[in-house]
Amino acid sequence: MPSAAIHVTRKRQGDLGQFLTPAPVASFMASLFGPLPRVVRLLDAGAGAGALTAAFITRLCERNDGVRCVEATLYEVDPLIQRALLETVENCERLCSKAGIRFAFTIHPADFIHEMSTRLANDLFGATAPAFNAAIVNPPYRKISTGSIERRKLHYAGVETSNLYAAFIALIQRLLTPGGQLVGITPRSFCNGPYFRSFREDFLSTLELHRLHVFESREAAFRDASVLQENVIFHAVKGRNQPRRLVISTSSGESESAVAAGLIPFAEVVHSNDPEKFIHIPSTLGHAAAKKTMDSLNSSLASLGLCVSTGRVVDFRLKHALRREPEAGTVPLVYPCHFNGGTVHWPKPESRKPNAILNNDETRPWLVRSGVYLLTKRFTAKEERRRLVACLFDPDMVQGEFVGFENHLNYFHANGRGIDRHLAVGLFAFLNSTVVDQYFRRFSGHTQVNATDLRKLAYPDRKTLQAMGTAIRELDQSQEKLDAVVGKYLHADE
Ligand SMILES: C[S@@+](CC[C@H](N)C(=O)[O-])C[C@H]1O[C@@H](n2cnc3c(N)ncnc32)[C@H](O)[C@@H]1O
Repeated sequence: MPSAAIHVTRKRQGDLGQFLTPAPVASFMASLFGPLPRVVRLLDAGAGAGALTAAFITRLCERNDGVRCVEATLYEVDPLIQRALLETVENCERLCSKAGIRFAFTIHPADFIHEMSTRLANDLFGATAPAFNAAIVNPPYRKISTGSIERRKLHYAGVETSNLYAAFIALIQRLLTPGGQLVGITPRSFCNGPYFRSFREDFLSTLELHRLHVFESREAAFRDASVLQENVIFHAVKGRNQPRRLVISTSSGESESAVAAGLIPFAEVVHSNDPEKFIHIPSTLGHAAAKKTMDSLNSSLASLGLCVSTGRVVDFRLKHALRREPEAGTVPLVYPCHFNGGTVHWPKPESRKPNAILNNDETRPWLVRSGVYLLTKRFTAKEERRRLVACLFDPDMVQGEFVGFENHLNYFHANGRGIDRHLAVGLFAFLNSTVVDQYFRRFSGHTQVNATDLRKLAYPDRKTLQAMGTAIRELDQSQEKLDAVVGKYLHADE
């Protein structure tokens, strides 16, 4: 094609937000629908050449599980693609006829936003907008300017958004009947950021999220170089009760690539206390890779000669023995608030927690003899960057014959005594690594990191941990550097 023609095509594509869905992606999307009613009223808004309807019908005919009739409604504004669209839909008709499914269709060569926002606005005054129980969509991506007619029409239909794709989704969710299903592919931008806040609120209060899928590579799924956004595919059902868990999956984006999927608590995807309603998409592929790495480890904590226990000092039970500042006859008392840059910094000036505990016959059973220990926080919120937060207790930095570890932390020890320094630093690196964090998140949906969880983990062998500990010279360093060291030793024999 001559370059001028390419330029015109590109400009036209850009104006219309026209990026057609490749067949493997369309087929994957069609596979996400749950059981469908006997009579399916399907909406394909911004249908292009009909790739999505085609995939939907192909899947339906293959499954042939009770659907008797499909009434398809397709909207496409581009006159140049109408012919291809008609051919696709006629082909769907033939497929359905072979499968014994009645098929009727209407193609509207019209502007979906203008038509539906008008009908929905009128609906508020008693007229009825059409209702669908299934929708599949790859909407156009383009900004809608503030003063435009589109913006005004959407406003009358109760939709406020500055991007065409969000406007399409907002209208579609209004056109679905309760229990109606929507599978869409859109840019991922709506999942966070202030511009999409009201869209997210609207979306999450009307649609129940059942599935989110992301591609690892932006370019692989859409071979078109101009699709630069990261995309997300979702399956949502019209309703007001979000599921307790939803499926999150990833694939490379190459056709036929393996899909890694996991069931993730909804509360980890949209945090209940987040006023912004960000939609988090944890990378299950990362989780799968982490599992593989962890499965390759075969040392238990016991085989390393180590134990992990919950800090013995329960502060409210020993209130009378606690001191805000160290004084004669006291020893250090360590809380998570003393964790600072990978090591325990003690005493903490102006701390709300006491810094010291009396060292006497009454308190001694709750204290441990000073030495090198590795500590982890027992309570970390899902929002924190890492669920496992480990910190070194270094007796060279915190002096005292004994030390009290408070009950909000766990401590690794060798039969009640301190542990070898290199081993402790190796453990520090391992437990703070992204691999362990991802592995841990796979099974931990709550805020506690209990000693039993740490006891159950598989660990690298002693030599590997000590080598890691020797390689880590600085504890206060970036996650990337830490992961690089851990990665080097964990994959040494691959
Ligand atoms: C991202 S493309 C996707 C096409 C097709 N659904 C697919 O998946 O291959 C969006 C389509 O919406 C069409 N479109 C853009 N604005 C529209 C509007 N206001 N009403 C109806 N269709 C529109 C474009 O022409 C384009 O074909």
